[in-house]
Amino acid sequence: MDILKPFTFIIFGSTGDLAIRKLIPALYNLYFEKKIEVPFKVIGISRKELTHEQYRDYFIEGIKDFSRNNYEAERYKEMAGSFYYISGALQEDKTYQALSKLLIENGGNEQNRLFYLAINPAFFPIVVKNLTNHHILIKGAIGAQSSEPWHRVVIEKPFGSNLQSARILNNQLSELIEDAQMFRIDHYLGKEAVQNFMVLRFANGIFEPLWNNKYVDHIQITVSETMGVGKRGAYYENAGATKDMLQNHILQLLSLLTMEPPIDFDADSVATEKVKVIRALNLFGEDSIVRGQYEGYRQEADVNIESIIETFVAAKLEINNWRWAGVPIYVRTGKYLTDKVTEVIVQFNEIPYNVYKNNNLASNKLVISIEPETGFSMQFNIKVPTKEGIEIKPVEMNFCHECEFGKNTPEAYERLIIDAVRGEASLFTSWKEIEYSWMIIESIMQEYKKKAPIIYTKRTWGPCESQKVLKKDGREWYHADLRCDNANI
Ligand code: BG6
Repeated sequence: MDILKPFTFIIFGSTGDLAIRKLIPALYNLYFEKKIEVPFKVIGISRKELTHEQYRDYFIEGIKDFSRNNYEAERYKEMAGSFYYISGALQEDKTYQALSKLLIENGGNEQNRLFYLAINPAFFPIVVKNLTNHHILIKGAIGAQSSEPWHRVVIEKPFGSNLQSARILNNQLSELIEDAQMFRIDHYLGKEAVQNFMVLRFANGIFEPLWNNKYVDHIQITVSETMGVGKRGAYYENAGATKDMLQNHILQLLSLLTMEPPIDFDADSVATEKVKVIRALNLFGEDSIVRGQYEGYRQEADVNIESIIETFVAAKLEINNWRWAGVPIYVRTGKYLTDKVTEVIVQFNEIPYNVYKNNNLASNKLVISIEPETGFSMQFNIKVPTKEGIEIKPVEMNFCHECEFGKNTPEAYERLIIDAVRGEASLFTSWKEIEYSWMIIESIMQEYKKKAPIIYTKRTWGPCESQKVLKKDGREWYHADLRCDNANI
């Protein structure tokens, strides 16, 4: 791991939503809490016409709204004093000439460079090519020796729009920079609770013996949102829930949860194990996909009036390996659902024989909550105090992150930015993970050709058909839709 050295953070798409809501607030938090104690400079590049001064002021409201730490004008001013701005088009030489000049002019900390591509993915190769052509980004600058500078590129998702385009993009980028310089970001990996997946599994002895098809009945992953696509209609029309959430965030959660123990926590060791699981993923049987679209989606800005893009997807997957064969993994994600929830349920097998004949016994469950509350809970059955007979009910044993560690946990982007600055890649996605993720997504896309999305009512758990998939197997979603019990599905 690199020691933190002075660096320049160069943001493409620097006036966009991501910069306002995530990147600059993350930087502010790191600065505020003195986690970056070296000089750093920010150079923003976008089309908007702004002076350096206007660019500095541009983030004040964003910091107030989205930063964990209070906005303190003095501290912010101190930090933003080293913010610079270039207004320019991504495909034009003069943008890069201006960048080159700015890097040289404001000397001191320009050697180590973190390029952040928060832009339309079609521009990824164009920007990287221009940066290398102008010798701003040098292939092989990995800072191998502590005296050598490093140049790294953080690439936002989506990495390609299908297997073929992802491969093309990877080839294009690989010609220009080393793989060790590419930091493909999936912000879910920076979430504290997600980092805890591995700790829960590999720092405790009790779960691992049960973590297989002998003891686990099934797994559920839900990532639900309560908002619609908002202003991102144009992007979403090319992505849909499957490419926006399933291909990356959900498959990442799934792989961390089901992979074999890595030999250590190096980026390569972790990626090797994740890749094996993602490669082994398949759709589980017929009718294992349900896709939906919320009512009114077609009226959203920049959305085709006849759009068949899904804003909801539920899938039943399986992992074809010794550990997991036969264990269904139900995943679902969608916009405009009942609650904002990110959670994983590991449901264990029913007991082999129920001696308590008058009681229906719930199976044991481990619930891993990422949002809204962060923590774990283990569900098991206990006796209710009664004067006679035996009554049994499920109760929960809880770990609540906030109760133990207080509020104000670092945001995903804080952790990931600092890791990228340090050259620590274990919370980033390797190319092979992405490549194999696209393979399973391609089989899902094949299914989509067969049917259009089912329209669902906003603020529900999506189409009832997704409950039917589980119901057919004698199971139900942890957050089930009561409305669907009576629906004719
Ligand atoms: C992004 C998706 O990657 O994740 C968005 O593009 C989605 O559509 C967001 O809203 C959800 O992230 P989080 O951290 O709020 O669960």
